[in-house]
Amino acid sequence: MNHFEPRGGQLFCEEVALEEIAREVGTPVYIYSSATLARHYQVFRQALDGEPALAGALIAFAVKANSNLSVLASLARLGAGADTVSEGEIRRALSAGIGPAKIIFSGVGKTAREIAFAIAAGVRQINIESEPELALVAELAEAAGARPSIAIRVNPEVGAGGHAKITTGAVESKFGVSLAEAERLYASAAASPHLDARGLACHIGSQITDLAPLAAAYDRLRGLTLRLRQLGLPVEALDLGGGLGAPYFNSPDPPAPAALAALAARAVEGLDVEVSFEPGRVIAANAGVLIARVLHVHARPDGRRFLVLDGAMNDLMRPALYDSFHDIRPLSPRPGPVRDYDVVGPVCETGDTFARARPLPPLEGGDLVAFMTAGAYGAVMASEYNSRPLVPEVLVSGSSWSLVRGRPSYEEMLARDRLAPWLSAGSITPT
Ligand SMILES: Cc1ncc(COP(=O)(O)O)c(C=O)c1O
Repeated sequence: MNHFEPRGGQLFCEEVALEEIAREVGTPVYIYSSATLARHYQVFRQALDGEPALAGALIAFAVKANSNLSVLASLARLGAGADTVSEGEIRRALSAGIGPAKIIFSGVGKTAREIAFAIAAGVRQINIESEPELALVAELAEAAGARPSIAIRVNPEVGAGGHAKITTGAVESKFGVSLAEAERLYASAAASPHLDARGLACHIGSQITDLAPLAAAYDRLRGLTLRLRQLGLPVEALDLGGGLGAPYFNSPDPPAPAALAALAARAVEGLDVEVSFEPGRVIAANAGVLIARVLHVHARPDGRRFLVLDGAMNDLMRPALYDSFHDIRPLSPRPGPVRDYDVVGPVCETGDTFARARPLPPLEGGDLVAFMTAGAYGAVMASEYNSRPLVPEVLVSGSSWSLVRGRPSYEEMLARDRLAPWLSAGSITPT
């Protein structure tokens, strides 16, 4: 459920007409709903708290899905932690008021600087993804005179997710270590005086709509936990990852958080472990839309009809990157026959195509459209490709709204570049 609904022929976010924001901020623009973020977080929370084995489990929001400080601060106030994959994300989580004890640091390629930063910040847990990384964390911990908590990220060799590029648990994917290697690394971490080997982690993919692969992965994690304990090694924490899908309208409805919680509860039954989850998409996707304006309709003699928007692949990359589907809705639909449009942006790439032959009501230059379910993996992936200023973000709460990331001016965009000394300003004469 989300709080983007038509009212009196116009699309609203909570109590605000999206058109009002588009008029004042300009387009393209991302708009997030606080009530939807809160609702999704609470549904997840209640699902976990409904299972005694998971009551109080940490929900570490995957910052990669949406890292806007106001989004993170909204979730922090509800009690969320953060799953982070870079120093920048740790800094964002801390700035948003998420305490270090609720921050997990994951990722296959952490730099020494990033690890040292995480250790100094005192994050809850560093998820180790390889043997060289384990050695580096131990070395940096010793240098810092600290004893960080670590978990070994296991690749359970079970792939899942809506697209090959968002599958992380398959044998060929770069994430984590095999079950056998995990056993060896865990023993080595537990033997290190510089590390507090606390647990295991796993995340097998994103946009999961079928729980069977997760059940298999959790089963393997449980088996490994029992084997490690038989070896006398303490396993106190299990990080069960994220991955639950969001409804994008073109795929089966994903399972509810309660179904995931029931599965997880069975997996940890009797283990007496501290559990954490790292959901991103299921919390943020439906809590955001991207609004773009129609520049014009380009009708070709062959019957093809291009809907050319001012929003492009640099603002919302998912269709170009993952062939992903976003429902597209006019903000104020006109009456008339539905026709097929190829929905494209102005970027100089054929890949800048949001949809082919998408049935839509009549649209004209100047109309506004919303890309639904764009709150996760949307603005975070935006770039300035084609020298298009970074897309702004707005957060709505009831009848209030606020610009939570502004659109840079062209001057600001250009000011980030520097002319090499031998090309100094005075030496450039327009030709
Ligand atoms: C380690 C890790 N945790 C959490 C997530 C969040 O996944 P999702 O947004 O599908 O819940 C990802 C995404 O790939 C991930 O790699």
